[in-house]
Amino acid sequence: MNSSVKKFNYVADISNISHYIIREFLDNKMIAVDATLGNGYDTEFLSNNFKMIYSFDIQENACKEYLKKQKDNVMIINDSHELLDKYIKEEVDCIMYNLGFLPGGNKEITTQHITSLKSIKLGLKLLKHGGLMTICIYRGHNEGKEEEHYILDYLKTLDKGEFGVMHHSFLNRSKTSPILVVVEKK
Ligand SMILES: C[S@@+](CC[C@H](N)C(=O)[O-])C[C@H]1O[C@@H](n2cnc3c(N)ncnc32)[C@H](O)[C@@H]1O
Repeated sequence: MNSSVKKFNYVADISNISHYIIREFLDNKMIAVDATLGNGYDTEFLSNNFKMIYSFDIQENACKEYLKKQKDNVMIINDSHELLDKYIKEEVDCIMYNLGFLPGGNKEITTQHITSLKSIKLGLKLLKHGGLMTICIYRGHNEGKEEEHYILDYLKTLDKGEFGVMHHSFLNRSKTSPILVVVEKK
């Protein structure tokens, strides 16, 4: 077989790994949050696996594009995820963050470490016991590096009796390759 067509199955896309982890390890799939809708791949995955999904994006075009799908179980919120608790008044099973900028969109409109961290802190409070939070961080741009620094620093301080935190990274790729962090609430 030509080596150029060989692909990695597991060691490939961190978003796919986050979907796999949620599918396999989360018992209750009732309510989920996509904190960064973007092109809608994560919301689509959540919509196919959960009863109700809240999906945030500050970009109106991303929201309008997803609304065309007319999914009954997805509530699109055109606002910042730092306002999670303004819109969500119940506990949730799962929260996904796919940080950074919209692929193919304006790279200037990116998640910011201060608001991402604020949202993650609120999200951990909203998460049910047994719930999962996944965070994909892209450290190939300056704001992504800041997010890596501040978010990991914070997650390291979580009480290990209440939260399990796992860090997934590529060991033999560039130092700026993306990372996936998974937080499980006991
Ligand atoms: C990497 S993309 C998300 C990819 C997406 N999950 C998907 O499946 O295609 C990051 C998205 O976060 C959005 N974003 C940036 N800051 C935000 C904020 N404060 N609240 C909500 N969304 C934000 C951007 O507009 C962008 O669409």
